[in-house]
Parts: sequence; C-alpha cells; structure tokens
Amino acid sequence: MARKMMIAGNWKMNGLSTDGVNLAKEVAAAVKAKKRDCEFVVCPPFTILALVKKALRGAKVALGGQDCHFEEKGAHTGDISPLMLTDLGCSYVILGHSERRADHGESDELVCKKAVAAHKSGLKTIICIGETLQQRDEGKTIDVCSKQILGSVPECADAKNTVIAYEPVWAIGTGKTPTAQDVEDVHAAVRKVLAKKLGRAQANKMRILYGGSVKPNNAKELLALPDVDGALIGGASLKSADFMAIADNAGC
Ligand code: 13P
Repeated sequence: MARKMMIAGNWKMNGLSTDGVNLAKEVAAAVKAKKRDCEFVVCPPFTILALVKKALRGAKVALGGQDCHFEEKGAHTGDISPLMLTDLGCSYVILGHSERRADHGESDELVCKKAVAAHKSGLKTIICIGETLQQRDEGKTIDVCSKQILGSVPECADAKNTVIAYEPVWAIGTGKTPTAQDVEDVHAAVRKVLAKKLGRAQANKMRILYGGSVKPNNAKELLALPDVDGALIGGASLKSADFMAIADNAGC
C-alpha cells in the first residue's frame, strides 16, 4: 500500500515575525528543489500563520494550525476556530497534541469534537496520540494508544482528511526515542485499531507519523519502517537544515 510520506514541522510556541518568515522561506526554497513526491507541512504559531503563508508562496508546503476550537465562531475568548484557519490558508490542523492534553486538559472526547469541526471546515487533521513514561513502564502503551484512537478519531475520519501522529510523551524534546521495533509495533497496532474503527481500506491508506525527538541521525531508521509514513517534528523543524536533512534521510 503506497502512502505518500509526510514531513511535518510543529513549531510549537516558537517563532516571531522575522525568524518565522526566514525559516519558512528557507524551507520553501529547499522544497522547491526536491524531486520526490513527499508532502511537506509546517505548523507555525497562530500569530504568524499569515506571514508564513506568504513566505511559502509557490512552494508545495502546506500550512497547518496547532489547535482549533470546535465551534466556527462565538464567545470563546482566546480561541481560534477551524474556519479562521482555513481563512488564513491552512489546510491542516494538529489536534490532541500531548502538550494540549497536558497543559489544557484536553480529553479524547474534546479532540474528537474538534476533529469533526475541522473536517466540516475543510481542514485535514493530524491527530496525536502517545503514552507517558509511566504507562510505557507499566506495559500499557498499546492499550493507551488504542483507547486514544478510539476516542479521538471521529467516525467521519478517512485517509484523505486524517493523519495520525504517534508521539510517545517521554520522547518529546528529550532526545530519547523508542527502538525501531517498538515504533513499528505501536504503528502496526494503531493501524489494526483504525481498521476496526474505519474499515481496513481506510486504515491501510491512512498515514501514521512518528513524532518525538526525530533528528537527522535517526530519521533514516525510523522512517524506513513499514508502518511509519512520515514524521511530526518539533525541535528539529526550527532549523531548515535539520528539517530538510530529515526529509532527505526519509527519501524525500
Ligand atoms: P520534538 O521533535 O522536539 O521531540 O517534538 C516532537 C513533537 O512534539 C512534535 O509534535
């Protein structure tokens, strides 16, 4: 089953106007020079989405938000709606990142509601799941990830509007990663749960990214795994050279 490799950068709460635009321009130029058919996405903070969109002009790099509300508009101070993201030229939104789950108490149910709203507004979702270190140590990784998939991925999800990102919480920003075998085992298990939920055809076509300390030096091994269809990159997406070296090592 050929699934198009995705290289996605989650800039998190990093990037002011000047450095964000410079980074976007560097990525745009590097992607323009690429021949292979991979999909590139960058997800800057809300505040510079419009500037980054402009800086990416002419390059095949999609723009994504890092979260959205489940309503189109209304009395929700400080929130951003899916429609606002599409209005700025976003085609993706990251939902249920472990930092949102931890910092803002986001539940599977809420993530699911947001995903439905995002799809309604024409956004594609990158839905994040992943276990904590304690859950891993207790041998609960597959159970935790399966439960998150079942609760966070809506019925309207399909391989066109949804990408899954498996990000072990303990691997984010720590320089630690699971072994390649562990990553493959989780991705294969996630695909099985997706098949149960959405049918085998959609599950086989749906991309499952790995995220958590992806760097140029581990990208080759992790991104060559059969059920790994790309990467969601945090820290290393803030330097265009590292971001593009990961893409190179993934065969993009
Ligand atoms: P790092 O690549 O910095 O570990 O972050 C991963 C991540 O959380 C991407 O969403």
